Amino acid sequence: MQDDLKKILFQEQVILSRLDELAREITGHYDGKELTVIAVLNGGLIFAADLLRRIPLPLKLDCLSVASYHGGIRSTGSVVFDQISMPDIEGRHVLLVDDILDSGHTLTAISEKLRSESNPASLKICVLLRKLKDRAKPVEADYVGFDIGDEFVVGYGLDYQERYRNLPCIGVLETDNDSSK
Ligand code: IMP
Ligand code: MG
Repeated sequence: MQDDLKKILFQEQVILSRLDELAREITGHYDGKELTVIAVLNGGLIFAADLLRRIPLPLKLDCLSVASYHGGIRSTGSVVFDQISMPDIEGRHVLLVDDILDSGHTLTAISEKLRSESNPASLKICVLLRKLKDRAKPVEADYVGFDIGDEFVVGYGLDYQERYRNLPCIGVLETDNDSSK
């Protein structure tokens, strides 16, 4: 599977070391607070699983499942929620955990929905990757694993047409997927 990559951006060990640092920062910030982590599926699954086990706080975990790509490599801008009801986060400190901040559509839609339908004490965003680019939605992440260029990456939760999520590293596919843009 790794042979399908034309380059590796982050090896598994590099990712895990960065998670140690992120987890320390997050633990320091939320120590003594009522924390609910909301992992954004499917992309945030692997990241959240590894990150949360490094945070020694009695946090609650919820998941949200959204789709914005609908099979392509570009966000369509329409974010569809799979859930009918949102997690109960009234009065709690919420940390949204997702794989990547790209156009910003997904995290903007989720934050707006959570803020308008519930009443969190606070809401912060943690992403493993942040693409350095102009965003359609000006959302800021509070915790960022790595900044990357504006290219399509797979692995460690990130997919291309639902494949490669289980790759332990993060890289760029050999085939020029950008031709379908
Ligand atoms: P946004 O709404 O454009 O910020 O995109 C967010 C979602 O698009 C992420 O949660 C990913 O699921 C997906 N995504 C964005 N960029 C990539 C990428 O380079 N590889 C794989 N998935 C991506
Ligand atoms: Mg995702």
